[in-house]
Amino acid sequence: MTVVMLMLVVLLKSVESMKLMKFINPSFDHCLTSGHVQRTITDVSRLTCSSACLVDEQCQGFCFLPPDRTCLITHTDQTTVLQALQETAGAVTYFIELKEGFVRKNGNGYRLMQSSVNHGTGRQACWNLGTNMSLPKNEKESQYIREIGKGVTVWALADDDPHEGTWKNTDTDEVLTYVNWMPSEPNGGTGENCVIEATANIKSWIDVSCASSYWYICQYLLY
Ligand SMILES: *[C@@H]1O[C@H](CO)[C@@H](O)[C@H](O)[C@H]1NC(C)=O
Repeated sequence: MTVVMLMLVVLLKSVESMKLMKFINPSFDHCLTSGHVQRTITDVSRLTCSSACLVDEQCQGFCFLPPDRTCLITHTDQTTVLQALQETAGAVTYFIELKEGFVRKNGNGYRLMQSSVNHGTGRQACWNLGTNMSLPKNEKESQYIREIGKGVTVWALADDDPHEGTWKNTDTDEVLTYVNWMPSEPNGGTGENCVIEATANIKSWIDVSCASSYWYICQYLLY
């Protein structure tokens, strides 16, 4: 009886700590190689290790070594890490569950789509993955877009058609509360109704024709 109750308490505690996000355990007896370790925390439990990953907005997963209660946190995406895992006796590696090719930045998964398409085609391609074309809602999300975009120019999910000058979310028609225009933008009038982000720049938005071709970033909510 006591054993059963104890197991129940342990189970409930794990569920509580996991409610923010799901971890997948590839169940390898492997740990992260040093090139993929962002941070090492010593003498903690596995639950403390998973919580440390969840509160770290760039954490993609962790490896826990039970014998010496060591926690290794990684910021590298799991596809890269899985190729580099090295054997370490008794280690358990967990990754945050993400769609293929996506990287976690706080509450969202992001993926750079490396094909030049028009605005409508990019939106559709993100929907096909069960995601949306990216649109930063604040300064911090703009920073994430710059990290994912690595200096290339990408579409944003925004336009001002049919009300010239009223910039809105293309999918929801909600008027934007955050914008990040380059100096002297937008300047294209009715000929330039869509938005691109030059991710090398802090102030990055430019209005262009929706029929132009650019790469894009897909984004979805993790929790
Ligand atoms: C896509 O955007 C819509 C509208 O903002 C939102 O309700 C939905 O949760 C988003 N989808 C994903 C998968 O994040």
